[in-house]
Amino acid sequence: MPTDGVNKGRRRFLVATTSVVGAAGVGFAAVPFIQSWNPSAKAQAVGAPVQVSLGKLEPGQLLKVQWRGQTIGILRRTDETIGYLHSNDELLRDPESLESEQPSFARNEGRAYKEEFLVVNMHCTHLGCVPQVIPQVGPQPFEESWKGGFFCPCHKSKFDMSGRVYKGVPAPTNLKIPPYSFIDERTLLIGVNPEGVA
Ligand code: FES
Repeated sequence: MPTDGVNKGRRRFLVATTSVVGAAGVGFAAVPFIQSWNPSAKAQAVGAPVQVSLGKLEPGQLLKVQWRGQTIGILRRTDETIGYLHSNDELLRDPESLESEQPSFARNEGRAYKEEFLVVNMHCTHLGCVPQVIPQVGPQPFEESWKGGFFCPCHKSKFDMSGRVYKGVPAPTNLKIPPYSFIDERTLLIGVNPEGVA
């Protein structure tokens, strides 16, 4: 997996920008929620890439942005939850993401360009609800051996911390990973893959 997501090309796009502000809520039981942000109507209308600064996103925190009418989550995973990913395979329907939608660089265990950051379309692949992120490791009412992940309250679909769907739930596939790239170490561009990536 690549470790450096710098995308030096394709700067001719109209780019909507935002930054993470007000990193409140650290230490809350639920994933600390940073900010919802909507690019301008003009940017949305043309489906523009969205530039996001991750400089203040702490481990365990989630940032949501809107891109092409979809809620995109950027989850900065902790070392603990990354460490559990390899142990989920038996619970998952498609642990290798063979049937799910993602850029080619994200067909890996972390489903990410940089393992630390999961960039994921938050809409459930069943009927489109937005699942809750529950990062705590330990028994949950809906899963005894929970190792952190996404839980969709609409019809109880479950996904791990890489958005990989559990067996035996209504959602048919893993959560989608949108196109994205890194402009620099802490600046994300949602909507554009690195040069040469499908
Ligand atoms: S919409 Fe998520 S389980 Fe049905």
